[in-house]
Amino acid sequence: MSQPTIESILQEKRLFPPSPEFSQNAHIKSQEDYQKLYDTAKADPEAFWAELAEKELHWFQKWDTVLDWQPPFGKWFVGGKINISYNCLDRHLTTWRKNKAALIWEGEPGDSRTLTYAQLHREVCQFANVLKELGVVKGDRVGIYMPMIPEAAIAMLACARIGAPHTVVFGGFSSEALRDRLIDGQVKLVVTADGGWRKDAIVPLKEQVDKALADNSAPTVTDVLVVKRTGQNIEMEVGRDHWWHELQHTVSADCPAEPMDSEDMLFILYTSGSTGKPKGVVHTTGGYNLYTHITTKWIFDLQDTDVYWCTADVGWITGHSYIVYGPLSNGATTLMYEGAPRASNPGCFWDVIEKYGVTIFYTAPTAIRAFIKMGEAIPNTRNMSSLRLLGTVGEPINPEAWMWYHRVIGGERCPIVDTWWQTETGGIMITPLPGAIPTKPGSATRPFPGIIADIVDLDGNPVGDNSGGYLVVKHPWPSMLRTVYGDSDRFRRTYWEHIPPKDGQYLYFAGDGARRDEDGYFWVMGRVDDVISVAGHRLGTMEIESALVSHPAVAEAAVVGKPDEVKGEEVYAFVTLEGSYTPSKELEKELKDHVVKEIGAIARPGEIRFTDGMPKTRSGKIMRRLLRSLAAGEEVKGDTSTLEDRTVLDKLRGGA
Ligand code: WTA
Repeated sequence: MSQPTIESILQEKRLFPPSPEFSQNAHIKSQEDYQKLYDTAKADPEAFWAELAEKELHWFQKWDTVLDWQPPFGKWFVGGKINISYNCLDRHLTTWRKNKAALIWEGEPGDSRTLTYAQLHREVCQFANVLKELGVVKGDRVGIYMPMIPEAAIAMLACARIGAPHTVVFGGFSSEALRDRLIDGQVKLVVTADGGWRKDAIVPLKEQVDKALADNSAPTVTDVLVVKRTGQNIEMEVGRDHWWHELQHTVSADCPAEPMDSEDMLFILYTSGSTGKPKGVVHTTGGYNLYTHITTKWIFDLQDTDVYWCTADVGWITGHSYIVYGPLSNGATTLMYEGAPRASNPGCFWDVIEKYGVTIFYTAPTAIRAFIKMGEAIPNTRNMSSLRLLGTVGEPINPEAWMWYHRVIGGERCPIVDTWWQTETGGIMITPLPGAIPTKPGSATRPFPGIIADIVDLDGNPVGDNSGGYLVVKHPWPSMLRTVYGDSDRFRRTYWEHIPPKDGQYLYFAGDGARRDEDGYFWVMGRVDDVISVAGHRLGTMEIESALVSHPAVAEAAVVGKPDEVKGEEVYAFVTLEGSYTPSKELEKELKDHVVKEIGAIARPGEIRFTDGMPKTRSGKIMRRLLRSLAAGEEVKGDTSTLEDRTVLDKLRGGA
């Protein structure tokens, strides 16, 4: 791990306060209101969360203990009984929202569907009964490998309804990556589709599932449910595979939500770490429900008239928390879009905004940078006057991209919430509350009330204003990850031991470098571990290295991130070949394809650089810092005295 550099400090002085009209109508209306909430929560976090839990959610049975903290293991609302599917659906059916649009869906080819709360409830109940019919019981894990269609959300809510934890695997992952996750999660049943539409092509999901399950290689999986989406021919294995639409009509639409223990597992979501295989991040029910509910309400300032659109995929945490659970728990209208901007329609996002009168739009900096490249003429031809609030997530947003977003998409009238958080945190941690906090381009601004964040050095000492350090969270919060599935040691090592407890207080280590300015605003600088971010997707360099080394030609591989204008970073691989192989264009392509096969297209190396050796320390550790500079085309600076063999570096520098 390297100390985050503080050389990259941005000197961004522009300040954008919300308009008085926006603030007046917002849930949190002023800096003073924010400060009051923040101070109250800090003084007594448990009382703060308990009051909200009581007010905002339905409980079948109230908890006995708000927080049971046996560091690093936290339990929230212990003894409470709750069901997040009930909070997202049933409780709205006794209000006027019964016939409100819960989910608006737009398919890439232009087909669309709208489900009201009553309709969504019915579909979820039926699908929950289908799962039961196939023998899924409380505690069984269900894999979801789906395109962005309503059935993805329906499947998640149905799992939650009967207490079967889901593990959603991003549809862009390869069959190998899918298989690893199905095995690690000991998944019983997989929900998928024949295919999904993406950039005018079919993603053959069912085919990938077949490959993942071939030769009984994920033996816990007994059944596969298949949604008919694209309609191409697929294989259906008798006894194992079932069509969703055939079973959905054979069951009753009556399926009461199971009262779950607040700490029962809601889902596992795999994310890349700095070493080894992906980690199964475990989230539980009550605390996650509360935190995603209240953050959605206050940060997106949800009003009943809003059409809210988050462009993430359900395969990522953003899709879980801010397409499905947070918005539906609030009774909001959430929009789901299957496609992506593509050559045949680079303006498809703006078409969707215009068509549905989207008021809140939440996307990623990498998307914004891609739009900037396409030119503002495209959005300028659409009417986007319905928008009133914008958001970003996934990586630091550079001030120029922020300004473009503000001007071209937001018409200079929409506040921007730059939201910092992680798969592990479950919900947004550092963010503006849009009616209360003036924004600075590139800063995620202030911690959400109840979140005690700080920036410290490796001994846990606060670094002070405007110094770079490690971002930590000092008090447990309701939606914190509970553990790494099946590996509590790894949980401890990864998040709680890089920085030792300070005066008896445990510090959650986020793995990001950051600084805080004189106004208390946080500026997140990026990962400090071996995780790179390609178009906002977290990829562990180790995973890609393992994929490369699994090819017979590769003796050793080292992967680093290379700065990229649109994607943020691109995968750059240094490869040493086995003796009998020689570098060639064909081999380079073969290795790139091999990574795609092992992990998925998101991990495809942009460049592979063949080298006779890696720059290593005497203890044999690859000096990634040097490789990063080389990949970026920068001069290699800093200490190189620990290099075992200087000629390796000289050769790499010389472009040999
Ligand atoms: C990065 C996505 C700067 C960060 C919700 C974090 C950000 C990682 C921001 C988590 C932001 C996310 N500003 N960096 N607003 N949001 N990140 O688990 O490095 O896919 O640790 O969760 O993304 O990625 P993950």
